[in-house]
Amino acid sequence: MFGISCSPADVWKILITFTYILLFLSTLRSYYSIKKRRKNPKQGAKLPPGSMGWPYIGETLQLYSQDPNVFFATKQKRYGDIFKTHILGCPCVMLASSEATRFVLVNQAHLFKPTYPKSKEQMIGPSALFFHQGDYHTQLRKLVQSSLSPEAIRKLIPDIEAIAISALESWARGQVLNTFHEMKKFSFEVGILSVFGHLDGKYREELKKNYFIVNKGYNSFPTNLPGTAYNKAILARKRLSQILSEIISERKEKRLLEKDLLGHLLNFKDQKGQTITEDQIADNIIGVLFAAQDTTASVLTWILKFLFDNQKLLEDVKAEQKMIYESNDRGKRPLTWAQTRNMPLTYRVILESLRMASIISFTFREAVADVEYEGYLIPKGWKVMPLFRNIHHNPKFFTDPQKFDPSRFEVAPKPNTFMPFGNGVHACPGNELAKLEMLILIHHLVTKFRWEVVGSQSGIEYGPFPVPQHGLAARFWKEYSNQELCH
Ligand code: HEM
Repeated sequence: MFGISCSPADVWKILITFTYILLFLSTLRSYYSIKKRRKNPKQGAKLPPGSMGWPYIGETLQLYSQDPNVFFATKQKRYGDIFKTHILGCPCVMLASSEATRFVLVNQAHLFKPTYPKSKEQMIGPSALFFHQGDYHTQLRKLVQSSLSPEAIRKLIPDIEAIAISALESWARGQVLNTFHEMKKFSFEVGILSVFGHLDGKYREELKKNYFIVNKGYNSFPTNLPGTAYNKAILARKRLSQILSEIISERKEKRLLEKDLLGHLLNFKDQKGQTITEDQIADNIIGVLFAAQDTTASVLTWILKFLFDNQKLLEDVKAEQKMIYESNDRGKRPLTWAQTRNMPLTYRVILESLRMASIISFTFREAVADVEYEGYLIPKGWKVMPLFRNIHHNPKFFTDPQKFDPSRFEVAPKPNTFMPFGNGVHACPGNELAKLEMLILIHHLVTKFRWEVVGSQSGIEYGPFPVPQHGLAARFWKEYSNQELCH
């Protein structure tokens, strides 16, 4: 085009050289901007202790060449609860203190905006609520929250039960399963239910197929070349928008006024009569499905591991659930909302699994101005990472933190020390639904099925959330009572 002809190999050489020059220049820029700030800190505040590692790459290799939690814990031990580092091309301040986390996520949340890599934002959709601050975020959050409120989700119990039973029946055929993969299918179905209510099977299958391609590409290296997982995901994302557009047209045609998330988004009008665009609706629906699926599935996988490792505890959970099962005429009547609110031991198992696994071990924010906290400077543009996992594993807040002990939740944890669902304006609006679907699945699992973990039972893999190695390979089977066998 510019009158230069080169072979593909030459193009690669030029690209690589160009990338090196860019890396070098940006290293110099970030090095000098850090130096300048050190000389001119806000009102004498200094940067937190810590090391920035190598130019440009910082400490990214140290972080990714080991269990990230070991990296965070080692740093905390060496530098204290607030320390600086440099990862993925960004200077960061990491916070392992519950007060500092509250400062960033709650008290001074307006000074710290959410921040995600551009490639991830593009994939989910830039209008999804979690990329935003201010009025737009507040408006959308209200809609999402009302479709996930206790009043809304209690109506979903019979349908969630049906999804759970059908999933469990399909697992109990003697084959060894990847528990995490199966849990993902379960949580996806529940996500679809909360977004669309009863959705036509044809749309559900299409959404599922394309969503799983997007999910795979989301965690891959973002190279948009034909055939790469990322490129396939971008194409699948476009198809998702088309499917959603068809669903929306059908609803509008039939003038359906549903109370699910799609209904709330379609019916919204602000004070000036402005509605939400179809793109904004699509981005938020895909965003909610994303936020709902792998998170819930990872926690459920951990719960099955923890219960299998603690057989006495499993027997106690079974006893709690069997009582409810018997009182429901041996499962002939559906679970009630009140019953799901009164499963104290099972609930504590869920809380302790959320703490132990801390599947969202940290989150990211970016300082929108120079901020001073406890004499430390957090410079504008730096990333800030509240380290939930370090707080959940701090012996000051949770005695013997490596021990799986649900009884610790007989007493409420100290404020701001237990944040599996985050804190403040961006805290998880789906937390009640997540807990409800976990309670329902556990109820049906322990009252009618058994499982055993197969092969290696140690090790963790990240996909991207931590799950037991190989997604917890397990075998499930149905447990028949004497009564059922006689019939
Ligand atoms: C065990 C399961 C889950 C865990 C551990 C979890 C955890 C979290 C956390 C920690 C955040 C805050 C992130 C931050 O501050 O940067 C969050 C946000 C969010 N979660 Fe969840 N979540 C779970 C399930 C769900 C479910 C089932 C849904 C929806 C059906 C959902 C929807 C959302 C949404 C929409 C946000 C963004 C809120 C905002 O930015 O205002 N999550 N979640």
